[in-house]
Formats: sequence, structure tokens, C-alpha cells
Amino acid sequence: MTIDILTVLPELLESPFNHSILKRAKEKGLLTINVHHLRQWAVNEYGQIDDYQFGGGAGMVMMPEPLANAIESLSRPEPYDEIIYLTPDGERLTQKTANTLSLKGNLLLICGHYKGIDQRIREKYVTKEISIGDYVLSGGELAAAVLVDAIGRLLPGVLNDETSALFDSFQDNLLAPPVYTRPADWRGEKVPDILLSGDPKKVEDWRYEQSLERTRQRRPDLLEGEE
Ligand code: 6GU
Repeated sequence: MTIDILTVLPELLESPFNHSILKRAKEKGLLTINVHHLRQWAVNEYGQIDDYQFGGGAGMVMMPEPLANAIESLSRPEPYDEIIYLTPDGERLTQKTANTLSLKGNLLLICGHYKGIDQRIREKYVTKEISIGDYVLSGGELAAAVLVDAIGRLLPGVLNDETSALFDSFQDNLLAPPVYTRPADWRGEKVPDILLSGDPKKVEDWRYEQSLERTRQRRPDLLEGEE
């Protein structure tokens, strides 16, 4: 998979993909991430990419021309499977969306800044608008990093048995069960006996029960069906 990211703050995206699982995905050649500075497509010698909003009001808007030029030039020779605009008014990111997007070949992510991007770009080029939750970030970069992480770890071959996504929270609409490591007795606090029983069936049943209980208590909405 190839993910191109269009941003006015490439520095913000230098580190997030260079560690742990995503780093391995890149090293294995399963994931390529290219960060592009929108300034390259600025319309004048001042590197301008934003302007005042029509109708008045505080805050700048990202101009259509640099974005259009960037999108058109990056879309050659191969068009994107999805052009995704990260925005707080987009569709809320879920595991299901991440699963779906992990099956695509190449994505373009557009990070908004200031008041966002000119509406005409959203209508003409953007195929999907995603928010990572109901709160406001200063820009789309951290949201893009979250999205790339959520997708990247799902690519076939990225995770191994130990890190398998099958048992993640949300993969079956259940939260993950509690986990423990050594020592079995830590300052008098004991690990549940079943986990030490060596009986895989019992352990599996216990984990499932715990998942269900945790989900009932913390996220009953997940059990209602839907997402
Ligand atoms: Cl995608 N962008 C911004 N600026 N804020 C957000 C967001 C995105 N998702 C949640 N809050």
C-alpha cells in the first residue's frame, strides 16, 4: 500500500511512522508513506497557500489552486483509490473503516489547517472525509497519523501471531479482556487462577466473558449492533 500525505506541517509527520509496527511495515516493503509539503504547489513567490474567507470571519482558508495542483500532480500516473480529507466534520473513524481502507492500494490524505480547505476542493476531488473523534485538533496531521497507524497495522504480513489484530478491541465489537504478566503474585495482588491453569479452553472462555463484561460496563453501545 502507498499512502501520500499532503500537509503544510510535514515536520509533524516525521516521527510517527518510524517506530514499532509501522516501521516494520515500511521495512518489509508492505507500506510506503510519502509526506508532501503543500507549499511546493503554492501559487506565488511568497509560498501562499491560504487566504481570507469570503463573507468575513476570523481564520484563513486553504486556497483551491495549490490543493488542486497538488492533487492532480500526485494523481499521475496512477489515480488514488481514495482521496481522504481529515476534518472534524467528517465521518467518525471506526475499526470497520480502518478494515475497509486497509484493502485499498493507494490513498491520498489531505490535512486541513486554519479554517479548513475551500469547499470546492471537497466537492471536486475528495472521496471520503474522516474525523477521529468529537473534539477539535489544531490540524489534520495528528489525525492522519492515527489513521495511517490504524490502517498500516492491518496490512497482511505486518502483524505476526504475537501482535495479531484478531484479538484487538473492536475487531469483534468487543473490548479486549484484562491482561497480566509475571509475577503471578505482585505485592499481594494475584493473577486470576484460570490464567495459570494451563487449560486453553477455560482461558478462552474466561477472556470472552471478561470482554463481554467490560463491554457491557464501559461501552454498551457496542453491543447494540451497528458499528
Ligand atoms: Cl481529522 N481534524 C481536526 N482538525 N480535528 C479533529 C479531527 C480532524 N478529528 C477530530 N478532531
